[in-house]
Amino acid sequence: MSGSKIRVLVAEEVRYFLQFVEVPADVQIEWLPTSAAVPEGDYKGLLPLLSRRVDESVLERLPQLMVVANFAVGFDNIDLDATRARGVPVSNTPDVLTGATADLTWSLILAVSRRIVEAERLAREGKWTWHPTLLLGMQLSGRRLGLLGAGRIGQAVGRRAIPFGMEVVYWDRIEQPEFEAEIGARRIESLDEVLASADLVSIHVQLSEETAGLIGRDQIARMKDGAILINTARGGIVDEDALCEALESGKLRGAGLDVYEGEPQIRECLKRLSNVVLLPHVGSATEDTRRKMFELAWENLMLGVRREPLLTPV
Ligand code: GLV
Repeated sequence: MSGSKIRVLVAEEVRYFLQFVEVPADVQIEWLPTSAAVPEGDYKGLLPLLSRRVDESVLERLPQLMVVANFAVGFDNIDLDATRARGVPVSNTPDVLTGATADLTWSLILAVSRRIVEAERLAREGKWTWHPTLLLGMQLSGRRLGLLGAGRIGQAVGRRAIPFGMEVVYWDRIEQPEFEAEIGARRIESLDEVLASADLVSIHVQLSEETAGLIGRDQIARMKDGAILINTARGGIVDEDALCEALESGKLRGAGLDVYEGEPQIRECLKRLSNVVLLPHVGSATEDTRRKMFELAWENLMLGVRREPLLTPV
């Protein structure tokens, strides 16, 4: 029995980062692997990974829950209607992962546009001699980058496009005048217009009811022939079957994906293609960033269990 301790359930996978925070004497951690079901109990706080669905079936096991401190900036794994109905505040980890995710997005942009993975394989296999038409890629300078979503991460991706000589346009419900002034980005209200005119489209919207399937067959058909699609946001935003067809037919030159509809499963058709670069959801995976994500999630957890305002509520 835990006496008067405040019990919190924390994803086992973040245990390494506990060394970077202080655990108050009245708090008792119980480690919960993400593959295990949430146990019933008098837990006051829950710190889950993005791969744990937190819905009514979880909340009913935790009647005393006072906070869900998600270890992610995205929170599509949490049923916010259910948490709201029970008055349980939820937090995420914005800002601390913006730079790392934008860097990773650019890793994909460069890898796809310059065919880095194909080239690396060829070099390793030793099946090449220098040739003027070997592995020709897409030059970035002078090309248009279309950002779908110009929040923190979208803007950071846009900023990084300027030294590459790209023009930046964005599609977002909200105008971003400071971003526009800073890098000369231009807002385009019509999604179709962004898709039809961008050489490279990069997705940075949240997954929600409005954005699920946002990039479907029709939207891909509207994209420029030979364009590139990058997704480091959430898999459910893109129709992966339609994407496979467009990559197979050559309608799209290539794609770079860090996220998938059925994570951690990846469709066979994507795995077969050489013009797509596939990463295992590592957008924020740097030592510094993951540590900061934990520190922020932990702080939110500790505030929540004492009914204090969260640092980064959603
Ligand atoms: C990663 O995808 C996150 O939402 O933090």
